[in-house]
Amino acid sequence: MSSINIGLFGLGVVGCGVLEILRRNEDLIQSRLGAELRVTRAVTAHPEKSRPVSLEGISVSNDPNTILDDPEIHIVVELIGGVDTARDIVLRALDAGKPVVTANKALLAECAGEIFGKAYEKGLALGIEASVAGGIPVLRMLKEGLSADNILEITGIVNGTSNFILSKMTDEGAPFDDVLAEAQKLGYAEADPTFDIDGHDAAQKLAVLINLAYGTTVSYPDIYVEGISGITPMDIEFAGQLGYTIKLLAIGKLAGDRVEARVHSTLVAKDHLLASVSGVFNAVFITGDNVDATMSYGRGAGGAPTGSAVVGDLIDLARNRLHGSDGRIPPLSVQRDRLRSIAVVPMDEVISEYYIRFQVRDQPGVLAGITRVMGARNISIQSMIQPSQAAHPEDPVQVILTTHRARERDIQDSLREIQNMPFVLGPTQLIRIENFRTERG
Ligand SMILES: NC(=O)c1ccc[n+]([C@@H]2O[C@H](COP(=O)([O-])OP(=O)(O)OC[C@H]3O[C@@H](n4cnc5c(N)ncnc54)[C@H](OP(=O)(O)O)[C@@H]3O)[C@@H](O)[C@H]2O)c1
Repeated sequence: MSSINIGLFGLGVVGCGVLEILRRNEDLIQSRLGAELRVTRAVTAHPEKSRPVSLEGISVSNDPNTILDDPEIHIVVELIGGVDTARDIVLRALDAGKPVVTANKALLAECAGEIFGKAYEKGLALGIEASVAGGIPVLRMLKEGLSADNILEITGIVNGTSNFILSKMTDEGAPFDDVLAEAQKLGYAEADPTFDIDGHDAAQKLAVLINLAYGTTVSYPDIYVEGISGITPMDIEFAGQLGYTIKLLAIGKLAGDRVEARVHSTLVAKDHLLASVSGVFNAVFITGDNVDATMSYGRGAGGAPTGSAVVGDLIDLARNRLHGSDGRIPPLSVQRDRLRSIAVVPMDEVISEYYIRFQVRDQPGVLAGITRVMGARNISIQSMIQPSQAAHPEDPVQVILTTHRARERDIQDSLREIQNMPFVLGPTQLIRIENFRTERG
């Protein structure tokens, strides 16, 4: 039986997950591939460190050249994370004619032009399934299963930490800081959770999704990002009364010849499939012009789910090699001469529905004042709740409005004007609402 030799960079959570799968499912993989997948070399920062998997038969070093200069290595796997060293490894591997598998969303979001450009130039495949939504084969779906469709919209819950925190806050009515501390204790949040809770991890994954869906390399800094740390139990409660659950969504939408690309907390109707995605689970909801609405659900992180995506890509790339079909699927779904640059719609031009919670003095004329400012900008109110009267005249009461579709700039201008009105007693909360309406209802 022929053998495909793999050079593995990184022996951490995912790297060891990959080795474990290759060992445990060795026979199954051979039966599907018709060849053996063998990790012959590994490179890691601390080669002497003990690992939770056997490294028998693998030559381990901290010198990247041992893999990159070895003509016997057929496929390179990059699982070290970070951008600079990973970028050098991936570019050098492609230059050496070796296809690459990587789980590195930071690299793919920040150096998309360079990395995908090199793969096109060399006519080589890039296996990037593990970079978005861990074990869910959603990129394969975009590249292959939905290759007959215009992708109208992609909406993802792609950060398990944020989803765990929002789900717990919803289930238990607990404040953000308490739930974050619990998530850290359970290992669902990093010691420094900023990247996850501020939405940047989700934005990197959104960049990868958009690039594959539209055959482009969006400028990652153009993606609008807002995290979940401002969400309070009060907002979760009011959203619930209005029939919604709050989720951190990564949203990519075709808008004429541009694309909306934004990550923010969002009200999702409780009866929508995405509202039922709880805890650390991920889901990606994709609407195509033929297929209409689809959703994929599963674990977005962890050694075994992410390793599954990496090994799935390895099998795919090994098949290419065995059948001489390296360039069969273009790295960004489209042929090289059909790559295009696509502009991101500036956030203040986005049209959405909104949940707005004002903290105001309990006095006559407040609602009239708010609606006058909003009405002057053609913002129409869909619903309103004012839950209770203030116990003390100086205490704020909450006034919650939802709006019909309105332009973000008009909403922001209105809120700025209202904030200066004498009856406003505290900061105003704004959360966008996503109502998934497709052509077919
Ligand atoms: N963890 C997940 O659930 C998950 C999910 C999806 C995607 N990913 C992505 O997968 C990649 C790996 O994540 P991970 O969780 O496995 O990370 P990790 O547990 O921190 O492991 C990183 C590995 O890379 C090695 N390493 C770091 N810098 C290196 C360098 N300059 N040269 C050589 N080796 C180096 C480390 O070496 P030593 O161990 O020798 O110190 C370690 O073995 C990242 O891009 C991450 O974003 C992870």
